[in-house]
Amino acid sequence: MFHSKISGIGYYVPDNIVTNDDLAKKMETNDEWIQERTGIQERRHIIRGEDTTTSMGVKAAKIAIERAGIAKEDIDFVIFATLSPDYYFPGPGVLVQRDLGLKTVGALDVRNQCSGFVYAISIADQYIKTGMYKNVLVIGSELHSTGLDMTTRGRGVSVIFGDGAGAAVLSREEDLSKGILSTHLHSEGQHAEELSLIAPGMGKRWVTDIIADNDPNDESYYPYMNGQFVFKNAVVRFSEVINEGLQANNLQVSDINMLVPHQANLRISQFIQQKFRLTDDQVFNNIQKYGNTTAASIPIALTEAWEQGKIKSGDLVVLAAFGSGFTWGSVIIRW
Ligand code: UT7
Repeated sequence: MFHSKISGIGYYVPDNIVTNDDLAKKMETNDEWIQERTGIQERRHIIRGEDTTTSMGVKAAKIAIERAGIAKEDIDFVIFATLSPDYYFPGPGVLVQRDLGLKTVGALDVRNQCSGFVYAISIADQYIKTGMYKNVLVIGSELHSTGLDMTTRGRGVSVIFGDGAGAAVLSREEDLSKGILSTHLHSEGQHAEELSLIAPGMGKRWVTDIIADNDPNDESYYPYMNGQFVFKNAVVRFSEVINEGLQANNLQVSDINMLVPHQANLRISQFIQQKFRLTDDQVFNNIQKYGNTTAASIPIALTEAWEQGKIKSGDLVVLAAFGSGFTWGSVIIRW
């Protein structure tokens, strides 16, 4: 039995900055509303034709692999988490295998939205623990901007999400006091439609032929979110799953050196911080700059925190996510 550790991390965001004022030119919204409700000041949107979900993931992966100090030939498996794949199928995992020029290693796609990176880390951890693989490349990448309803009708969703990618290499760790200590995953499909994108999906095809009847006024082609309901569930589930992780390892809240929550809304992070009585130094947020990048938000935030020297060897790092599904989870790491 082994442990896995995060041996390299990286992120990529497009250069194109979209401010709240930029969005206010397209829909009835304003900087004050967006900042007050979400904390977001700006986000990144790709320039069409320059980036895809896969290409952003590949850019982040190259940095993570280099920092892991391994060659791409050493990667045994690829896991790609996204809700915005380039194609309906195949998923982006195989595109990464191709575009990075990896050996014919296995490639798996994870469809767990905001919790996607936490789920992907958990899967990679199991493969490494059992000795099946030594190095697993985990990517979270999202291209939201081209799929959002940028009219006033969609403002409750479109102002929140941004584009970007983050990646981590998980590698075998023989010291069982280090690395990923445990992962905790949950779901509650009863609320599947509360944060969802219904079409194109096979379940929708009995009403709408995907090619012939694609109706621009059909809102099911845009993400839907019951914001307040999601918010209320998020604060409860974040707290539960952080506590679950701490208890599983006989740890206290005071042991946390850095909590990196999924960047859903600054108000949610602040609520959790207050509830657990964590200081500003114990919680990392960057939603102000990037918005909610779904499966990419944790690896982007984790990388920035690490680059800023806020995560050091021996630190207890907690990752926690909640989102569409509903799904939620946590990862407890001794860095
Ligand atoms: O990452 C996955 C998990 N996602 C989350 O955790 C998100 C959780 N939810 C939230 O973060 C919040 O619910 C939102 C930020 C999405 C919305 O904030 P809210 O305080 O729940 O606002 P609301 O949806 O209740 O809307 C309040 C008002 C409405 O107007 P009326 O009906 O009071 O006249 C909306 O039409 O704000 C209006 N509104 C906006 N106004 C300006 C909604 N979106 C906008 C907007 N600009 N962009």
